[in-house]
Amino acid sequence: MAFAGAVVVTALVVTLGSYFLVGIYLRDRAIDEALAQSRFNLRFAEALLPAEPAQTDFERLLQALATRGDFETLVTEADESLVSGPGASRDLITPELQDAVGRGQLGYQPVHPNSVTTLVVGGRLPGGEARLYFFYPQGEREELLDRLGLLLSVAGLVLALAGALLGWGLAGRVLRPVYEARVAAGRMAAGNLDVRLPEGRDEFGELSADFNRMASSLQARMEELEEARRRERQFTADVAHELRTPVSALVGEASLLEQRLSLNADGTIPVETRRAAELLVRDVARLRRLVDDLLEISRLDAGAVDLNRVEFSVIDFLERMGEARGWPDDVRVTGDRRLTLCTDPRRLERIVVNLVENALRHGEPPVVVEARRVEPTMSGAAAAAESVGGHPAAGELALSVTDFGFGILAEHQERVFDRFYKTDPSRGERPGSGLGLAIVWENARLLGGAVSVKSSPEEGTRFTLRLPLLADSASLAAEDEDTLQFNS
Ligand SMILES: Nc1ncnc2c1ncn2[C@@H]1O[C@H](COP(=O)(O)OP(=O)(O)OP(=O)(O)O)[C@@H](O)[C@H]1O
Ligand SMILES: [Mg+2]
Repeated sequence: MAFAGAVVVTALVVTLGSYFLVGIYLRDRAIDEALAQSRFNLRFAEALLPAEPAQTDFERLLQALATRGDFETLVTEADESLVSGPGASRDLITPELQDAVGRGQLGYQPVHPNSVTTLVVGGRLPGGEARLYFFYPQGEREELLDRLGLLLSVAGLVLALAGALLGWGLAGRVLRPVYEARVAAGRMAAGNLDVRLPEGRDEFGELSADFNRMASSLQARMEELEEARRRERQFTADVAHELRTPVSALVGEASLLEQRLSLNADGTIPVETRRAAELLVRDVARLRRLVDDLLEISRLDAGAVDLNRVEFSVIDFLERMGEARGWPDDVRVTGDRRLTLCTDPRRLERIVVNLVENALRHGEPPVVVEARRVEPTMSGAAAAAESVGGHPAAGELALSVTDFGFGILAEHQERVFDRFYKTDPSRGERPGSGLGLAIVWENARLLGGAVSVKSSPEEGTRFTLRLPLLADSASLAAEDEDTLQFNS
């Protein structure tokens, strides 16, 4: 509407302006022409008339003038007057014009007999009382002006209409994407995250691209959340299921024990009673381990684990841990003694102990625990070391635990780090809940590293933990050794 309004105003200004300008120009030209013609007529009359002109002389003059152009003439002398045709009349002469002519000037005046404009030019003959008035009809000029007015009105109207249509079309084109964006935003608000806008190459295209990016990231985020919720629900179900087995076993063993509470005749405890009590104690211990693992997982999930970083030699650490844990002889620790880490030894111990226990339990000895220095391949580990430890990272520590058992089938390898995942559920009778590798994974992440598995039936299984190393791996501070303590 604003566009159409602007076009209408412009059209009005242009048409009215040109109409009036052309009108003024035509009028001025007509006056100039009439004045020039009248001057000529007066000189002509002066030449034609004798010094004392009679009525017949004037009649002759009028006849002679009639052929000179498209005008009519009125001659007045005192009260006498003579006209050349019906267009000329003494009544049309205004007193002002008479005065001007009386003073000897060439005067002019537009008059409107029968609503047709006529230009009257009057002058006095030199050396006499006779006055000549010439009547120039302006009908043609007015007709021309009327036609111009009509033409301009039509053109202005067409222009205004075209402007309105153009404005309408443009506004529609400009506002359509806005409308589409509004509809899309509405649908998104209603929960439909699949909506996308067509992406053009104009400013709205960029807006649409931004909108689509926002929708995609929202959708991805929602899917992530949904997936996290699904995992949480699965975890709760698994926890309930895993707790149920040892608890039912405990209930069974406890009631068995209750039935066999009586002593032998000689006052000793019967063998079955002792056996039932042992089972009870074993399963209570298992249950406690499961609950401990669950607690650790939930602490790691909640981010409620504080890191206590210390600098220490990796090989020393592994050897002392082996001693403290009573690892059998076929668990061998090898590697470069100068390798120094700055990390939380408790967390590292959790990782290594779980991996070695797995190797002993699920694989075949010998078990090789090896610490090597490798060039960093994961950008994350090195960056994390610099930001958390404050020490410059110099490559990575690859700590691998290798055994020579049957290995893990390829289809299981991706999932062994999942919570409660066991490659052989039928061996569920054996101790172990399937939380060990999940705890390894979370701890590795917490230390700024990562853990991976490589396994084949021929070569056995190798779990590798990668952690950022300290730059000067020989700089082991003596007092730090005291801070290393091992869980029994
Ligand atoms: N070295 C290995 N060789 C073969 N299979 C393994 C090895 N380590 C782990 N696995 C498989 O991966 C599964 C998951 O291991 P994880 O440590 O998470 O659980 P777990 O050892 O069964 O129980 P938990 O560690 O909680 O006592 C194991 O059940 C086992 O099937
Ligand atoms: Mg395990």
